[in-house]
Amino acid sequence: MERIVIRGQRRLVGRVPISGAKNAALTLLPCALLTDQPLTLTNLPRLADVDTFGHLVNGLGVDTTVTGARADRPGGGRAMTLTADRIASTVAPYDMVRRMRASILVLGPLLAREGEATVSLPGGCAIGNRPIDLHLKALEALGATIELAAGYVKATAPRGGLVGGQIAFPVVSVGATENALMAASLARGETVIDNAAREPEIVDLCRCLQAMGAEIDGVGTERLHIQGRSALSAAEHRVMPDRIEAGSYACAAGITGGDLLLEGAAAHDMRAILAGLTQAGLRVTEEADGIRVAADGPLRPLTLSTAPFPAFPTDMQAQFMAMLALADGTSVLTETIFENRYMHVPELARMGADIQVRGRTAVVRGVSGLAGAPVMATDLRASMSLVLAGLAAAGETQVLRVYHLDRGYERLEEKLSAVGADIARDGEG
Ligand code: EPZ
Repeated sequence: MERIVIRGQRRLVGRVPISGAKNAALTLLPCALLTDQPLTLTNLPRLADVDTFGHLVNGLGVDTTVTGARADRPGGGRAMTLTADRIASTVAPYDMVRRMRASILVLGPLLAREGEATVSLPGGCAIGNRPIDLHLKALEALGATIELAAGYVKATAPRGGLVGGQIAFPVVSVGATENALMAASLARGETVIDNAAREPEIVDLCRCLQAMGAEIDGVGTERLHIQGRSALSAAEHRVMPDRIEAGSYACAAGITGGDLLLEGAAAHDMRAILAGLTQAGLRVTEEADGIRVAADGPLRPLTLSTAPFPAFPTDMQAQFMAMLALADGTSVLTETIFENRYMHVPELARMGADIQVRGRTAVVRGVSGLAGAPVMATDLRASMSLVLAGLAAAGETQVLRVYHLDRGYERLEEKLSAVGADIARDGEG
């Protein structure tokens, strides 16, 4: 089995190029379904999930052409031109969707463009139940008829296409907001989305849709107004930098007592993360070409709750937990978004961390050091927390099930080795 092997206790110093954002790319790729004109995405990260999404849209009839830019510097990701001049299929099969829940983001665009879509239900996930009821309710508010059968969602638009409507989300959902936004951009008339998600990836999606000719007001706020258009047109859009990747490397600086420049990271998308780092005792400075994060004495404990943007992101909870396992005192973390996002706790405990979980709350008592051990990755961010712990631990750590990491971290070992880590991958995939 492929694994990552880390020999820890090396102070990381240097520059880490931040890639394009996975969670922006996964909602920008389906935008190509909304037009018969070419959509070019630049700064696209080289990730397993992006490749899977490429295959998914190819199966729907989207032609994709990749041009590789220099990957070894920020903004150096790939450029992909996607052209859906004709939709060949409106079915997203179980085999694709089970590999990547984000496949559900083809539902809105297909329905808006073709008037029908059949998408496999995503099924279970390690971090939580993750239903899609809000996606379906949003599309029903635009006039769609939804049927569930044999593990699939079958959605049909009224004759003449989707119609603008009022959508008010009872809870904030990133994915449901994205599906509703994409569908509403081709619906007849105006749509208003209340309690919309405000994540930077949603803003990036709005920018791309606007470049394609969509009319959207209230970008970045919880109330979005979308004036539907009969057609969208060609555009080029640069994928925003990955704030979660940047935050993860910032924790690498913290946990190794290091000093890293996160090249191309955007501070305005990371305020809650940067505030957490500063409270934990790190020195954070915004520089012309990125954000510098440096250790500045012992790590301090924190009390943190995850919540929708602009609050502290759930996708940074595991990485902060690993860092706070070495803080000088007791931290309290509360996970409010997903009901099962502490799968990394027993693995960190194998490395000597002292963490007690009660319901949604984890109490992290700082220890003086961690010890290397073989550990099992369970999901994307949990696996990054194990890599971080391995960077600080005495001896050797082996992280198994590396495929979780490849879904969301581009060239992880390369980027960490370049700043002094002793990290390598071995074994068969
Ligand atoms: C997105 O997932 C991200 N994924 C997740 O990142 C991230 O953790 C999450 O937003 C929250 O920020 C992508 O962008 C591809 P939600 P999404 O809909 O859209 C409930 C990572 O590590 N809910 O905002 O699936 C849901 O169960 C991944 O990169 C419903 O009840 O998240 C959860 O408790 C992991 N019904 C809450 O809302 C619905 O129809 C927030 O989920 C939809 C969601």
